[in-house]
Amino acid sequence: MTAPFPIVILTGAGISRESGLATFRDPDGIWAKVRIEDVATPQAFARDPARVQAFYNARRAQLRDAAIRPNAAHLALAGLAARWPEPVLLVTQNVDDLHDRAAAEAGPPAHPDSALLHMHGELLKARCLRCDAVHAWADDLSATTACPACGEAGGLRPHIVWFGEIPLGMDRIEDALSRCGLFVSIGTSGQVWPAAGFVAQLRGRARSLELNLEPTEGTRLFDEARHGPATQLVPDFVATLLRGAGA
Ligand code: APR
Repeated sequence: MTAPFPIVILTGAGISRESGLATFRDPDGIWAKVRIEDVATPQAFARDPARVQAFYNARRAQLRDAAIRPNAAHLALAGLAARWPEPVLLVTQNVDDLHDRAAAEAGPPAHPDSALLHMHGELLKARCLRCDAVHAWADDLSATTACPACGEAGGLRPHIVWFGEIPLGMDRIEDALSRCGLFVSIGTSGQVWPAAGFVAQLRGRARSLELNLEPTEGTRLFDEARHGPATQLVPDFVATLLRGAGA
C-alpha cells in the first residue's frame, strides 16, 4: 500500500480519438486537411476571420453530435479525481468538452485542489476582443455576432489559444509539476510546447509515465511508457493506482 500523492495528468487529442474526434498529426488528422497558418494563428484571424470562424464552427458543431461522447479513458480519469485523496490536476491540450462531461458524470473531486485545466482554451467558449469577456458558446460565431456583455458586433473570437499565443494556466501547471509525485502524459505526440516540456520540468522529483498509441519523440524522457489505445491503457492504469493506494 503506497500513500497517495499529488498527480499531474496531461492529455492530448489521442484520448478523444476513440470518441470519434480526429487527432492533429495522425495521417488522417486535422493538419493533414487544413494548414495551421490558415486557421489557427492570430494572423489568420486578422486576414480571413470568416475562414477561421468556419473552421471552429464546424468543430464546435461536431461536439453537438450525440455520437460524440466521453470514452472509457475520459471516464477513468474523472473517476480517479473523484476518489484520489490528494490533488489531481488534469491538464488537457484538447479543446473538446469530453473531460468536462466525464467529470460531471463522476461527481465532485475528492480533493478541493483537484481541477481540469484547458491550457489551449475551449471550443464551447467565445471571447470578446472588445471587452475580453469569455462566454459559454455552443453555436456558430460570425462577424455579425454581438457580444452579450458589451453588445459590440464582430468582436467575438473562439476562446482557443492559437499558435503564437500564451497557453492558459501556466503558473498553476508549473506549481503542480513542482509538487507532484506522478506525471502521466496520455494521447499526445509531445510535439507542441510548452506541454512537450512538462516531463523535463520534473527533474527526477516525480515518477513519469507515457500512455500513448505509439512511441513519441518524448518517450525516452519518461520513466515508463505503455503503448496501446487509451481506452485500454487508462482504465487499467487508474484501477492499479487506486488499488495500490487503497483509495
Ligand atoms: N489512444 C492513445 N493515443 C492515441 C490514440 C488512441 N486511440 N490515437 C492516437 N493517439 C496518439 C497518437 O499516436 C499521437 O501521438 O495521440 C497523439 C496525438 O498527437 P497530435 O495529433 O499531435 O495531438 P496533440 O499531441 O494533442 O497536439 C497538441 O497541437 O495542433 C496543436 O493545439 C493543438 O492541442 C493540440 C496540440
